[in-house]
Amino acid sequence: MSKSKIVIGNWKMNKSFDEAEDLITTIEESLADYQLETEVVLCPPAIYAELVTDHASLEDSRFYAGLQNVSEYDNGAYTGEVSASMLASMDVDFCIVGHSERRKYFGETDTVVLKKMRQLLDQQLIPVMCCGEILEDRKSGRHQDVVKAQIEATLYELTPEQMERTMVAYEPVWAIGTGETATPAQAQEMLAFIRSLIEKKFGTEVAYNTYILYGGSCNAANALSIFSQPDVDGGLIGGASLKADEFIKIIEAAETAGKDN
Ligand code: PGA
Repeated sequence: MSKSKIVIGNWKMNKSFDEAEDLITTIEESLADYQLETEVVLCPPAIYAELVTDHASLEDSRFYAGLQNVSEYDNGAYTGEVSASMLASMDVDFCIVGHSERRKYFGETDTVVLKKMRQLLDQQLIPVMCCGEILEDRKSGRHQDVVKAQIEATLYELTPEQMERTMVAYEPVWAIGTGETATPAQAQEMLAFIRSLIEKKFGTEVAYNTYILYGGSCNAANALSIFSQPDVDGGLIGGASLKADEFIKIIEAAETAGKDN
């Protein structure tokens, strides 16, 4: 039996409040006529969480609410941070963790990523754990080793029950925001490898059920060829999720790929 796909929009640090509202409304209106199997998650900047959760809570809403980051700590004296229990109390369902931009600019290590995942899982949120290699590692053929180390330091520390509630996004750092996408074959090869790592630790059923997404310069033109790969369960979309028409086309590609699989 095939799984439906998931498309996650990662808005990063973009959009004014009015622009964010406009984007959400346009996406919602554009999706109104679809019989969607694909699950759509919108991850705005945290300050706009309510904008998304308000829409997501509507009875006929076509999307779920997510955010891009969470604190590794419980509530308390951590100025500027936002806790997993706060996300839960706002009815946020998903949260990205370990994005390469957080690893690079905010020193987020695998240890921190694991703490954040545990915070989210304790609050019944779904972590979307990002992993991926830099260009140097790809060129020297060490890309699988790098991703394996990231997975072992994070996912392998979860219980099987926690793993069942976790998603993975493979995002080669060299493809993020660069316009250079992994080829469908490269994406498939790595996602199959990640699934095999999950299988080794957690068994075949958990590995099959785990959503593993591709991210990195995914757009309306290349989404279908990537999503059609057997191990690609959907996409984590950055730049292209900021334009409603482009994002809708990516969701359409996920629908088509989901039906064809
Ligand atoms: P991009 O970003 O689609 O702009 O390359 C993807 C991501 O960083 O999640």
